[in-house]
Amino acid sequence: MKSYIRNSYGGPEVLELIEMPIPEPKANEVLIKIKAASINPADWRIMRADPFLVRTAMGVFKPKFKHIGADVSGIIETVGTSVLNWEPGDEVVSDIMRCGMGAYGEYVAVPQELLVRKPKNVSFGDAAAVPIAGLTAFQALMDYGKLQSGQRVLINGSSGGVGTYAVQIAKHYGAHVTGVCSSHNKEMVRGLGADQVIAYDLEDYRNPKEKYDLILDNVGNCSFKAAKAMLKTEGISLLIGWGGFSHMINYMVQGGMAKLTGSKTFKGIEAKMDTGDLESLMELLSIGAIRSVIDKSFPMEQLKEAILLQEKGRTKGKIIVHN
Ligand SMILES: NC(=O)c1ccc[n+]([C@@H]2O[C@H](COP(=O)([O-])OP(=O)(O)OC[C@H]3O[C@@H](n4cnc5c(N)ncnc54)[C@H](OP(=O)(O)O)[C@@H]3O)[C@@H](O)[C@H]2O)c1
Repeated sequence: MKSYIRNSYGGPEVLELIEMPIPEPKANEVLIKIKAASINPADWRIMRADPFLVRTAMGVFKPKFKHIGADVSGIIETVGTSVLNWEPGDEVVSDIMRCGMGAYGEYVAVPQELLVRKPKNVSFGDAAAVPIAGLTAFQALMDYGKLQSGQRVLINGSSGGVGTYAVQIAKHYGAHVTGVCSSHNKEMVRGLGADQVIAYDLEDYRNPKEKYDLILDNVGNCSFKAAKAMLKTEGISLLIGWGGFSHMINYMVQGGMAKLTGSKTFKGIEAKMDTGDLESLMELLSIGAIRSVIDKSFPMEQLKEAILLQEKGRTKGKIIVHN
């Protein structure tokens, strides 16, 4: 089978499309014939080891893990000897970030506990778009943000992968949503249901006169001071996007100190694969409560172009690669 690997750190030029044996699923794994995968900022950050410190976990001089690619959808080809609830022909979706990755290829072996059924009326591309971005949006709103119907939510970076799902999920659960994006994407974000859209190239969204119950910062440019001024008394502000070390440390330290003396919450979030959450997202897609916004879909052979495009930071929703 064909699969993309890399042997050194760098941009998409380090990726090689190689011929390798089809993986033999272990007893608790299934073999998936990959139909689609989606690109995330994590792909190029892992490839480039950006920020540099991640090398301590991923290999100092060269990557310990050769594969990248976490969001995957496909059809089960074979199952391991102890797999009970899945069979060949089942259509599935998964986030395989923490089990070696490998979504960019023809086949991948995945532990059964990471599988979620893809609804029949959802395409492989629309399903593969969801895992990392959708889980991040869902967990930020529901787990970290404890969203309640009627609350006012600000979503900074509302036109990217995380943002497009966050706007729709927040609306579905009854929030009043203000999205922040460039004027170029204003209509698209309004079309996803946002009640108000602020174009960051025309006005500053950091307006202390506006008060929110929940702030999701997918960009990493909402300072602790600005977030504090915009939050209601019991409000929660979540840092999701990477705005650099000094931003993160300043936000966390000041946020921690503020929590000791006040009721507002400031947190950095780390989204995780959770099959229950991914099932909920598939259900929302299936009933049409949310949709995947696909910026562009590339054949798998054009993975390098797809990652280069994602790295520009201007993606509208998600970029897909397909077999
Ligand atoms: N903490 C976690 O667990 C976690 C999980 C997943 C992702 N992330 C991080 O979250 C961030 C967002 O991920 P993503 O997948 O949504 O990325 P993405 O799809 O690449 O985001 C691209 C979008 O960002 C918008 N954007 C760029 N600059 C902006 C600005 N100054 N203000 C508002 N919007 C701006 C762009 O819109 P315009 O072209 O209109 O500017 C574009 O639509 C990334 O940093 C990613 O690494 C964190």
